[in-house]
Amino acid sequence: MAMTELSTPKTTSSFLNSSSRLSLSSKLHLSNQFRHLLLLPPLHTTSNSKISCSVSQNNQAPVAVQDNGSVKTKKECYGVFCLTYDLKAEEETKSWKKMINIAVSGAAGMISNHLLFKLASGSVFGPDQPIALKLLGSERSIQALEGVAMELEDSLFPLLREVDIGTDPYEVFQDVEWALLIGAKPRGPGMERAALLDINGQIFAEQGKALNAVASPNVKVLVVGNPCNTNALICLKNAPNIPAKNFHALTRLDENRAKCQLALKAGVFYDKVSNMTIWGNHSTTQVPDFLNARINGQPVKEVITDHKWLEEGFTESVQKRGGLLIQKWGRSSAASTAVSIVDAIKSLVTPTPEGDWFSTGVYTNGNPYGIAEDLVFSMPCRSTGDGDYELVKDVEFDDYLRNRIAKSEAELLAEKKCVAHLTGDGIAFCDLGPVDTMLPGEV
Ligand code: LMR
Repeated sequence: MAMTELSTPKTTSSFLNSSSRLSLSSKLHLSNQFRHLLLLPPLHTTSNSKISCSVSQNNQAPVAVQDNGSVKTKKECYGVFCLTYDLKAEEETKSWKKMINIAVSGAAGMISNHLLFKLASGSVFGPDQPIALKLLGSERSIQALEGVAMELEDSLFPLLREVDIGTDPYEVFQDVEWALLIGAKPRGPGMERAALLDINGQIFAEQGKALNAVASPNVKVLVVGNPCNTNALICLKNAPNIPAKNFHALTRLDENRAKCQLALKAGVFYDKVSNMTIWGNHSTTQVPDFLNARINGQPVKEVITDHKWLEEGFTESVQKRGGLLIQKWGRSSAASTAVSIVDAIKSLVTPTPEGDWFSTGVYTNGNPYGIAEDLVFSMPCRSTGDGDYELVKDVEFDDYLRNRIAKSEAELLAEKKCVAHLTGDGIAFCDLGPVDTMLPGEV
């Protein structure tokens, strides 16, 4: 690997505020220690030279971001990722694709800790896809973010070409092609759901604005932070320049959970379960659709003849799986959520197998199912693998399914009213009713 340039900045990372700055020079000092041990020539670390962060073929100059009159510069990098390489000199990278920028919020959290290493390994976007990770955290988590970046360094992933860390979405989201929005506040003891919607809604409104201002115009956004459907709606409403179709709320975890439960009941391995739709909200009103799902290509209701179990036991077990997991673990799902994020991304970047589909929460704009428009609602989708999707048209409905879907739809309409002040829909009015307004993890 040919190193053509390395230098350090006079100051520390401009992503960080003065109280929580990264010392890039100390990281480089460590790097030199290791280089000495490896009998490599030392890196140059003159204190007044410019830092060069891009390590990809598509070397881009730093971009200035105009925000309310102030110009913010970008971009800063972490440790070893500040080296500049001449990839042309590397035989094995000649067939690599153009680098993509991936932002992850809540990057110091448990879900991210599982996810980031999968992204960096190449198992999500492929073994010929170099990536840059843009990690967004809070002021409080900045030390932990450094720790994450250090572990990424130590993992020596060849495809991981840049790691940037920061606390300002306007800087971290610069030019990103994917934004995986995981960070959100959990509901505290005694906190009203309306308050949770408002607190997290503010975060996603701001992140939507930031994406709108600085991300790649065709950025794909996956909202994981709960309540993810309404957060995704808020986010897209604050990003009018980005196609609304590009925003997703993660319901793939629910799809995976549903497949697992059906497989267990039918006594088959879970790869035999297909065509699994989760309809609606990522909450206890979500509808795992056993009418259209298949086991070994057969309708589920023909394979599992205990229809009472399907309507009650199965449905509730999927709706409340997150809560049960919290009882066992003492915290929310993290590893399985990260896996489902990987599945959700792969479903968009690889062609959907013939006859099958996947679930994702997407914007209801001209949907063929009669679901209220202007919501983020989980529905069955197919993709050609270009990052985009189409809704599946040939799905069946019966009264049970329609009634259940209507309940989840009502819940999302009520949530939407609570956040009207954040979506540009006027004054918020919040009446969520006494029941069925829980996240899967709430008991
Ligand atoms: C899950 O489904 O496991 C999570 O969304 C639970 C939660 O509330 O964090």
